[in-house]
Amino acid sequence: MPDYRDQPNICVSEDVQLGHGVRLSPFVNLYGCEVGDDTRVGAFVEVQRDVSIGKRCKISSHSFLCSGVTIEDEVFIGHGVVFINDRRPRATRADGEPQTEDDWMMERTVIRKRASIGSGAIIMCGVEIGEGALVGAGALVTRNVPAHSVVAGSPARILRQQQEPVQFRTTKQRHFQ
Ligand SMILES: CC(C)(COP(=O)(O)OP(=O)(O)OC[C@H]1O[C@@H](n2cnc3c(N)ncnc32)[C@H](O)[C@@H]1OP(=O)(O)O)[C@@H](O)C(=O)NCCC(=O)NCCS
Repeated sequence: MPDYRDQPNICVSEDVQLGHGVRLSPFVNLYGCEVGDDTRVGAFVEVQRDVSIGKRCKISSHSFLCSGVTIEDEVFIGHGVVFINDRRPRATRADGEPQTEDDWMMERTVIRKRASIGSGAIIMCGVEIGEGALVGAGALVTRNVPAHSVVAGSPARILRQQQEPVQFRTTKQRHFQ
């Protein structure tokens, strides 16, 4: 595995724990987090402090993983997925001073193993996305997503709920009526 800390266009701070076989693309920014074996991280991804990413995950380009997010093994994160950890964000306190770490409450989010999150999805804080679930492109997830379900829309609603892992169908053409 290359020593990513030596590469000028990759930002990995000393406190990051990288597993074996991790692959990082250019312009990633990782600090205070851990990334499991054989996980791939695409270009322009930022992973903040206190994030845990499991083994054999794929994090596609331009996604933002904020503090308090836990991603279990074999999870797929599409392009430009945004996680949220502060439900009521403020730049300053009531007295006008900049907020500190003590002035807001982080809400944690968990993505269970083998779940997939489509491109452009926004995952509100404090939710759990169940094992093997599939979140549609552009979804705004505001509630817990049951295991092996397919959700989509804003706010996201269940399209399909299955007991078994989601089956992927073949390519199809769609037409307006
Ligand atoms: C959500 C998703 C899994 C559904 O796929 P599917 O099970 O094959 O469902 P269908 O295409 O049959 O669509 C079922 C209905 O949901 C709608 N729908 C599909 N995807 C949607 C989405 N992302 N958001 C909102 N509605 C969606 C369809 O328009 C259709 O509605 P209709 O019956 O009124 O026409 C898929 O469309 C999707 O968004 N996948 C994520 C792809 C992605 O981001 N990949 C990232 C790497 S490239």
